[in-house]
Amino acid sequence: MTQLFHIKTFGCQMNKHDSDSISKILLDKGYKQTARIDDAHIILINTCTVREKAEEKALTLIGRLAPLKRKKPDMITGIIGCVAQEKGVNLLKRFPYLDLVIGPRNIYHMDEFLSKIKEVREKISSLDLACEFTTSFSKYNGYLKGRATSFLRIMEGCDNFCAYCIVPYVRGRETSLPAKEIIDEAKYLISQGVKEITLIGQNVNSYNAKNKPTFPGLLKELDNIVGLKRLRFTTSHPKDLSDELIGSFGELKTLCPHIHLPVQSGSDNILKLMNRGYTRDKYIGLIEYLRKTRPDLTITSDIIVGFPGEMKKDFEDSLRLIEEIEFDNLFSFKYSERPGTKALQLPGKIGKKEKQRRLSILQERQRGITLSKNRLLEGTIQEILVEGPGKRGDDQLTGRTLGNKVVNFSARTNLKGQLLRVKILKGLQNSLLGELIDR
Ligand code: 5AD
Ligand code: SF4
Repeated sequence: MTQLFHIKTFGCQMNKHDSDSISKILLDKGYKQTARIDDAHIILINTCTVREKAEEKALTLIGRLAPLKRKKPDMITGIIGCVAQEKGVNLLKRFPYLDLVIGPRNIYHMDEFLSKIKEVREKISSLDLACEFTTSFSKYNGYLKGRATSFLRIMEGCDNFCAYCIVPYVRGRETSLPAKEIIDEAKYLISQGVKEITLIGQNVNSYNAKNKPTFPGLLKELDNIVGLKRLRFTTSHPKDLSDELIGSFGELKTLCPHIHLPVQSGSDNILKLMNRGYTRDKYIGLIEYLRKTRPDLTITSDIIVGFPGEMKKDFEDSLRLIEEIEFDNLFSFKYSERPGTKALQLPGKIGKKEKQRRLSILQERQRGITLSKNRLLEGTIQEILVEGPGKRGDDQLTGRTLGNKVVNFSARTNLKGQLLRVKILKGLQNSLLGELIDR
């Protein structure tokens, strides 16, 4: 009987990509994927631990597997990803019905783990942070069918140890993949109909820091691949954003004018405590240079409020910074204590209520900025890559501009995967409303 697997994914683009890799490996081995958890013979939960809330969500879902397992004792249940790495084998004790605990670096052997469980019915944990990994998991023909966009992982792990961040502890040391492997993978993706590739890694700017090509060189090589229409990357770290990389935005034909450049705080005191390796002025200088090089650049960022020691004045520095820079969009978070991180030892903890108050003020300010930025695009013509049906139903399609903004527009035929021009009729809070102007 064909074995059905179900994967539920929490967290960032790295986790989404990991789940895709697992799906491809299992499909290649004859398993079939199901969207219905009740039908599955194998349930895998891919988890995130970047903030406490994300972790709670994952643990709640694992709790809900107990009755399913009672009904179907032969079912295999696994927890994978960052919570698996952080909590390790303790999860097998806490949730006795779990069969697998697999860290983010060990997912590539999923088919072997499943075969072994079926053979010996023993629990398996695999949490080796020094494990080798590779990009080449798109081998399952047909997996990418109909996809116009794809992630392509170029590295794993992080060496920065920002004081609040658990990532280096759960994804291990920074490791770059060989450029040849990345280029082969890009060519394969394009041969399958992919038009837009987003290179992903925790800090892509430091790709191959001790080798050649470095990140700008890799972008140049990818830009030359025939058939690639759009190239993006995420996430960037301000301390590693070189002049050469900024120059790429003015030079490379496929590189889209969007950068996600997390600032985390607008206060020098807090940036120092966070171990970010740049100052407020340095960050503003980078933004100025980016905008000079590519005036139509969309700039988005991440910010944390309520980091230990954040005085009212520091918070106001963050508010002033977002007003001065005017990000197109901002992802903002209340500081969340994470096990093992340096910030745990810092004095000056900020209370829950105060963190929420600061977050609300910041988000309110940013909402106004985002809306006015979107309104500025009204009346302009934008190239979009159509991604599929919009939220409103059949007669609406959705796509993204070169600057990565979502555009919804009416169309009666399915134009998925096509690059089209639209006129922007209205800038809304979270998207743009457009009108097709040609086919
Ligand atoms: N608390 C709050 N936000 C965090 N981030 C990372 N760690 C924490 C934490 N402990 C945020 C950062 C990062 C984004 C992915 O998540 O802003 O850029
Ligand atoms: Fe975390 Fe900092 Fe690494 Fe980003 S760069 S993953 S915030 S340690």
